[in-house]
Amino acid sequence: MITVAHFPMLPVLLALHVLSVVIWVGGMAFVTTVVLPALARLPAAERIPAFLEIERRFGLQARIWVLVAGASGGAMLAQLHLTILVGTSHGLWLDGMIAFWAFFMFLLFVLEPAFLHRRLRDRGARDGEATRRLLLRGHALLLAIAILVVVTAVLGAQGV
Ligand code: HEM
Repeated sequence: MITVAHFPMLPVLLALHVLSVVIWVGGMAFVTTVVLPALARLPAAERIPAFLEIERRFGLQARIWVLVAGASGGAMLAQLHLTILVGTSHGLWLDGMIAFWAFFMFLLFVLEPAFLHRRLRDRGARDGEATRRLLLRGHALLLAIAILVVVTAVLGAQGV
């Protein structure tokens, strides 16, 4: 078993990894359970512009923390020699983390800047309430998957 004595940076990487996940997934939870429901109190035409303004401010933070999660996770994966588990039935907890991370990299660095925000702005101008509900459903689904990934990561790291 590889311990801190073999690899003294391990606790630092794990702390950075968990911190990045806490801020990133915590932000998603706040947007899903607080921001999107609260937007229903605004006039319909203002809902999506307000959402995009809030999202723009959290977006930069989310990009940074997703990069930190990937870098720290990748370094631990290599140092703990866990790459042999990736893609096997014993490494599903690792596959879950990597797949979730890869999806968010694509979402934040490709889809959003390329067209997602523009599409949302156009759709929101036509029907602010339907677009808010769509966003709420999408965020709730992603949050549920994030919780599943966190729980399986902790269980997997314990060898359960
Ligand atoms: C490229 C992406 C990622 C890689 C390569 C990766 C890899 C790792 C590795 C190697 C560990 C240490 C396991 C151990 O201590 O034996 C770990 C821990 C953890 N990861 Fe990831 N991870 C990634 C993304 C994520 C994501 C997206 C989440 C959650 C949304 C996540 C949540 C966690 C949690 C909660 C732990 C702590 C487990 C514990 O020690 O109890 N990781 N990750």
